[in-house]
Amino acid sequence: MNSPMMQGLNLNRPSYVRNAKLIAWVADMAALCKPDRIHWCDGSDEEYDRLCQQLVAAGTMRKLDPVKRPNSYLAWSDPSDVARVEDRTFICSQRKENAGPTNNWMAPDDMRATLAPLFDGCMRGRTMYVVPFSMGPLGSHIAHVGVELSDSAYVAVNMKIMTRMGKGVYDVLGVEGAFVPCVHTVGAPLEPGQRDVAWPCNKTKYIVHYPETREIWSYGSGYGGNALLGKKCFALRIASIMGRREAQDPPGGLGWLAEHMLLMGVTTPEGKKYHVAAAFPSACGKTNFAMLIPPKGFDGWKVTTIGDDIAWIKPHADGRLYAINPEAGYFGVAPGTNYETNPNCMATLNKDVIFTNVALTDDGDVWWEGLGPAPEHALDWQGKDWTPAIARETGAKAAHPNARFTVSALNNPALDPDWDDPNGVAIDAFIFGGRRSTTVPLVTEARNWVEGVYMAATMGSETTAAIVGQVGVVRRDPFAMLPFTGYNMSDYFRHWLDLGKKLAASGAQLPLIYTTNWFRKGDNGQFVWPGYGENMRVLKWMIDRIEGRAGGAANAFGVSPAYEDLDWTGLDFSAAQFDKVTSIDKAAWAKELELHTELFQQLSYHLPAELAETRVRIERQLAA
Ligand code: GTP
Ligand code: SPV
Ligand code: MN
Repeated sequence: MNSPMMQGLNLNRPSYVRNAKLIAWVADMAALCKPDRIHWCDGSDEEYDRLCQQLVAAGTMRKLDPVKRPNSYLAWSDPSDVARVEDRTFICSQRKENAGPTNNWMAPDDMRATLAPLFDGCMRGRTMYVVPFSMGPLGSHIAHVGVELSDSAYVAVNMKIMTRMGKGVYDVLGVEGAFVPCVHTVGAPLEPGQRDVAWPCNKTKYIVHYPETREIWSYGSGYGGNALLGKKCFALRIASIMGRREAQDPPGGLGWLAEHMLLMGVTTPEGKKYHVAAAFPSACGKTNFAMLIPPKGFDGWKVTTIGDDIAWIKPHADGRLYAINPEAGYFGVAPGTNYETNPNCMATLNKDVIFTNVALTDDGDVWWEGLGPAPEHALDWQGKDWTPAIARETGAKAAHPNARFTVSALNNPALDPDWDDPNGVAIDAFIFGGRRSTTVPLVTEARNWVEGVYMAATMGSETTAAIVGQVGVVRRDPFAMLPFTGYNMSDYFRHWLDLGKKLAASGAQLPLIYTTNWFRKGDNGQFVWPGYGENMRVLKWMIDRIEGRAGGAANAFGVSPAYEDLDWTGLDFSAAQFDKVTSIDKAAWAKELELHTELFQQLSYHLPAELAETRVRIERQLAA
């Protein structure tokens, strides 16, 4: 009755799309959302250029100066739509316990009833883009396919950069292949004749996941993590559910992991190559660490990027954990990026970039806080006049603190040659690192898998502008996955513990686990640790530990380096300064352990006993 054909809408399906489920689903969604047109994306460069031109004509993007920033665009969002909305993000499992206390939950039927009227006619006056994408190399045994339906051309062009998007995905899907259905709308239907705004969105927002049916429904936002559904919604929340399911069904399986981790290659002067996966919360240094250039004095060391945000990690027949980067591009934080902090990133951004919410300079280029000398005049991310004087008077930022760039991984001069190896790379070490101005030392090595899982599970971090809400509030962010674990957090801990136990039982050498904190501040409020490229000193210590060459002393938490254990070549950093970033304040740690206890109380349902036991052991050792 409600079929699109009856409404006169042509599905417009290209003949190469043959997947029966996909065709039926697109028809159903068109009937629900009632777009004026359907566009099946083929992922070609011509299509990308055409959509970008269209976005320029619509006022959503402007083209930057073709000499200064070839083939690049700038988009300014609605001021209310600048970051992920965690309080509007839902895991709608049948049972509340399966979402767990760290996720917002609503029963699937109730959520469907809530969303139905919102999605009914939500794409009126707009085009529905059918965006087929693969997370991971096309056809890789680790990869998975999704299809996003969106009424935003901005989403379509960003998905082209961030994923393997286009025609080839239909070949992988064939007639019967499975895909994760993702529906996205900005929630701003147009009445006939109504003029569009530059950045349509809706005050009401819902980012919804149905674990049992593996569906994603996103309403009301055009911003990255809320709208590019292959990223956080699929590659982390739904994928984490898929990875754990495979540990239970068939019984005795190992399953796999979907993690908020960068992936890097580290090559030593002897030419030995290691792979490190590091989980830092949002806007806490993954992109920077993944593109690290070793400082002077570290001749022969080389860091190469495999991924900067997400890793899918699978046990291999050889007993080791292999990881791929499911993405194809970077959606990274602009503010703070410059030729000193991250030269590789600056080179990556030379061309072919979509910038969102940075400032526009008078010569048609971009600027953000921390890039370098401020322009005399610019238009800020809201299109208002901005000058250094205005900034001094009003505190106005030229770029939004969560301004981002979207760029292909292929632009990165430090891209690892194995970055798209369908089999992934073998992980030698995991790092978990929060943003803490006090208490947490620079680096600690876990003595075993359980201790490492404990460190990751209890990690705290100060909130950043990547999330709508208050910035700088310390919260527990287990594994940097608080906003991204698609199921019960205690079950997630269990999955990590079980995987380690099973791999160890098979005689495998497990990766070492570390925690880091680059962000301790001195009495003057400045970071004490120089960070960025200098993080190489900590990375080298880890590699030396793996090779059995570096010193370290055991304490209540694990093993930490003494001043002499790090290589200080080329850096003036005294033992006293080192003490400022490594000292353990017992009173502060007593308070910190109370926060661990609070977390464990919150997560008491299914909390693995090993973790509570580890806390008791640490408390006892600290008191001794
Ligand atoms: P998401 O994309 O949100 O997941 O973030 P990310 O972890 O990739 O964060 P990114 O590397 O983009 O860093 C975000 C902010 O942290 C930027 O403002 C950086 O300048 C700052 N930052 C990164 N590394 C360091 C460091 O070693 N020390 C200090 N002090 N700041 C850093
Ligand atoms: C994050 O917030 O961790 C990001 C940016 O990587 S977004 O894709 O918008 O979630
Ligand atoms: Mn992220």
